[in-house]
Amino acid sequence: MAQAVNMEPRMGASIVRLFFHECFVNGCDASILLDETTGEKNAFRNRNSARGYEVVDAIKSNVEAACPATVSCADILALAARDGVALVTWWSNMDGSAGSSGCQDSSQADANRDLSSFSASLSDIISKFKAKGLSARDMTVLSGAHTICQTACGTFRSHIYGDTDVDSSFAALRKQNCPFTGGDGNPAPLDLQTPNRFDNSNYRNVVDKKGLLHSDQELFDGGSQDSLARLYSTNGAAVARDFAAAMVKMGALSPLTGTMGEIRLNCRRRVT
Ligand code: HEM
Repeated sequence: MAQAVNMEPRMGASIVRLFFHECFVNGCDASILLDETTGEKNAFRNRNSARGYEVVDAIKSNVEAACPATVSCADILALAARDGVALVTWWSNMDGSAGSSGCQDSSQADANRDLSSFSASLSDIISKFKAKGLSARDMTVLSGAHTICQTACGTFRSHIYGDTDVDSSFAALRKQNCPFTGGDGNPAPLDLQTPNRFDNSNYRNVVDKKGLLHSDQELFDGGSQDSLARLYSTNGAAVARDFAAAMVKMGALSPLTGTMGEIRLNCRRRVT
């Protein structure tokens, strides 16, 4: 992970998101890694946006060379996500949340159902997390990962042009590289100041009405998460503590242990 992040600082973020999308759909069973046409990899929120598969492949082949058929792809992804955060932050207190092997099922339909859209409402997002046994508080702190998030114009256009809860100078700045039509792929970091550093800026942004994703601004929009978002915006230590705990909780969603899973030799293919 250190090599990967050195080559491309964004990779820490990409692996963290891969881990989230992996665990959220039928548990942490490495199903997102499978190259299957009807698998999760091709779901709406993954196709053309989930990244980092090659990094997992590279780690897996190193681990296989050192210790064959022993460490699951699910565990590799969990530990890579831990390192992905640790490498870009000033704190590093997240336990390894390994302990699962892969894989039950890789379902595009389940991923389409479970993962929220960037245009989702707060109640929709909270209910999706609740369905996984994660609280609204877990959701709010996990969304702090967007401090290292990058996205593209097509994802935030309707927010900066259509929503009323956006700071006008921020919207004007973002419109410079995101026209009303065209330029869907034009990139933008969620955090202008420290896009490659994991800190509590996502909360400062939403409190200032500078959340780039509609779904993030929902965390501070007169709803149930306002006071927590405000607290996190001024208390980086609370974010560090709660984020680590919530990641460990997410990493324990429906683990496959013992003979329930499989140790793949190649994370893209099932054993049988
Ligand atoms: C709460 C609901 C969530 C929504 C609606 C959401 C939505 C999004 C969207 C739209 C993007 C941009 C994708 C792209 O343009 O390619 C993104 C990126 C990202 N998300 Fe989330 N997300 C959510 C929760 C989370 C959680 C819980 C985590 C981690 C624990 C997370 C971590 C990330 C990261 C690190 C990125 C940047 C990935 C990269 O740059 O490759 N997100 N998210």
